[in-house]
Amino acid sequence: MSVSIVVGAQWGDEGKGKIIDVLSENASAVLRYQGGANAGHTVYIGEQKYVLHLIPSGILRPDVVCFIGDGVVLDPIAYQEELDVLHKAGIRTEGRLWVSPRTHIILPYHKRLDMCAEKRKGKKKIGTTGRGIGPAYMDKYSRMGLRAIDLLNEPIRRERILQNLEMKNFLLTSYYEETPLDPEDILQQAAACADILKPYVRETIPDLAEMNAKGRHLLIEGAQGAMLDIDYGSYPYVTSSHPVAGGTFTGSGLGVYSGGDMRLLGVAKAYLTRVGNGPFPTELDDETGRMLRDRGNEYGATTGRPRRCGWLDLVALKYSCLVNGLTHLAITKLDVLDGFDTLNVAVAYQYKGRRLDFFPADLQAQEEVTPVYKSFKGWQKDTSTCREYDDLPDAARAYLAYIAEFLGIPVHIVSTGQRRDQIIFV
Ligand code: GDP
Ligand code: IMO
Ligand code: MG
Repeated sequence: MSVSIVVGAQWGDEGKGKIIDVLSENASAVLRYQGGANAGHTVYIGEQKYVLHLIPSGILRPDVVCFIGDGVVLDPIAYQEELDVLHKAGIRTEGRLWVSPRTHIILPYHKRLDMCAEKRKGKKKIGTTGRGIGPAYMDKYSRMGLRAIDLLNEPIRRERILQNLEMKNFLLTSYYEETPLDPEDILQQAAACADILKPYVRETIPDLAEMNAKGRHLLIEGAQGAMLDIDYGSYPYVTSSHPVAGGTFTGSGLGVYSGGDMRLLGVAKAYLTRVGNGPFPTELDDETGRMLRDRGNEYGATTGRPRRCGWLDLVALKYSCLVNGLTHLAITKLDVLDGFDTLNVAVAYQYKGRRLDFFPADLQAQEEVTPVYKSFKGWQKDTSTCREYDDLPDAARAYLAYIAEFLGIPVHIVSTGQRRDQIIFV
């Protein structure tokens, strides 16, 4: 089998959905291994826009099978909403979309607790998507969660939910000073969630083994990005899962894959964005930042929040290459930089009078560093119509060549627009 792992190399929203959509033309299956409906992966097919939150972007290719792996936290209500959109658009999901029985479930109380925790943190809030991600992973790791298979088992579901509600209601009333949850209400909601999921829950591991035996091509779709990883990101301003490529080994059921060809493709924008709070050394709170937001249409695909924008940060991206073990890069949204006179990229940081070449673990340092920039000449040409690497303006090729050299890995794909055909294989 050949496996391509496609991960976000920055703070999310790098254009993973588009890259997965392009690559899935030659894949048999696409698998998600972490995160939940906090993701928003945009794919354009012609003029039609789709935003996938939970279901792998491969669902838009009729012959591709899609798996939701063990490391995901799945909200059946968000799942149903997504299915409705797909079915309305004539996209078939029966017999080609499977949820692992070990996938943990997000219930409405996880979303409520997510909101309460944020409110309580006040100014220090993370700026989560409010999708219940943190509380669901908390339950999973404190061994109180419900997996898809548990949700489908009525006595286990009932027992586990009632046990959970004792603690949740204590938290809600005594700590958050909110109203409690009604157990009968929750049990009813959970039963409805079970009905939604039932047709889709099936062992996914034997299917992967079969794909392996048949020498098929599997695409693995990351959500979020390395800088939001629970271990490697800008903690505590991170998500609660493992977006880094290593997360696939525990979240997919594939094991430490060593059976054949494996490519680790990191997706990075030609500049940088972040949504939610937390450090962002190259952030531009000025006219240039606004220009990037306008030209790149930088508004969250899940929450609609304006994304914070800034210059490409090669210190963070180099770190991301290391913690992901990337072998290849996809640079997206190059077209957004068309028309800028000068482009800057951070090649180091200054902190307390010293030069830093490595992304610091210390939150205070992440917040206080000053980027050391290298400037590039911009290009005054439209790259959105380029289809070959050689069609790109010289200045754009120089920009990309510098990125590859700095990071020590090749730029394999360049994206110059939101459509499928706006892609260059280098
Ligand atoms: P994801 O979460 O990594 O899949 O990225 P999002 O879908 O949240 O955000 C990426 C946005 O950029 C989407 O609106 C895409 O349609 C758009 N996009 C992707 N690639 C390109 C590109 O090369 N150029 C432009 N202009 N837009 C792109
Ligand atoms: P995709 O897959 C960008 C951010 C939130 C917040 C932090 C924690 O589209 O790239 P959470 O709801 O996960 O507990 O929020 O992570 N975040 C994302 N930012 N893209 C995403 O997904 C994100 N998913 C979560 O804004 O800062
Ligand atoms: Mg997104």
